[in-house]
Amino acid sequence: MNLLDLREQCLSCQKCSLAKSRTNVVFGEGNPDSVVMFVGEGPGRYEDETGKPFVGRSGKLLDNLMGAVGIKREEVYIANIVKCRPPQNRDPLPEEQDICIGWLQKQLEIIKPEILVCLGRVSAMRIIDPDFKVTRQHGDFFEKDGFIIMGTFHPSALLRNPGNKIPALSDFKKLAEKVAELKENRG
Ligand code: URA
Repeated sequence: MNLLDLREQCLSCQKCSLAKSRTNVVFGEGNPDSVVMFVGEGPGRYEDETGKPFVGRSGKLLDNLMGAVGIKREEVYIANIVKCRPPQNRDPLPEEQDICIGWLQKQLEIIKPEILVCLGRVSAMRIIDPDFKVTRQHGDFFEKDGFIIMGTFHPSALLRNPGNKIPALSDFKKLAEKVAELKENRG
């Protein structure tokens, strides 16, 4: 299975009730050869309208954080835990996550990133540890299932709490260093 076929299948998914209220499935996009995959929570209004991840205000902030450490959006891959917008931007329910996570697992199998960056608590709790606490554990690297994984603040949370932009930037610096280290080791 390649990424295009997987995307085709995902776009017609009807496995949970989020399918009924969505405008577009937000499969994910970016460089399929990326070393890094960012994983958000789920599409918001603008993502639902466009079918693209992180295109609203939080997407601009994500672009700025990446840009500040020399990472270009088109170099990386960006996906979400759930591919359809939860109504009123509520957190995706555990059962919606359980149903949808298979798409992300297949994306990981195909893209094979070395580093995962969990954007926000929903993503970090799902991927790293159900007890993950962003305020205490942001910026730490974990090894799990063959991936190096870091959790950091969700860009929407940073819009609500701009005081956390400085620690978020330091997480992105660590990320850029880790990417450089991996590339160097590969020679
Ligand atoms: N928030 C997310 O978690 N994902 C998006 O794609 C956009 C906003």
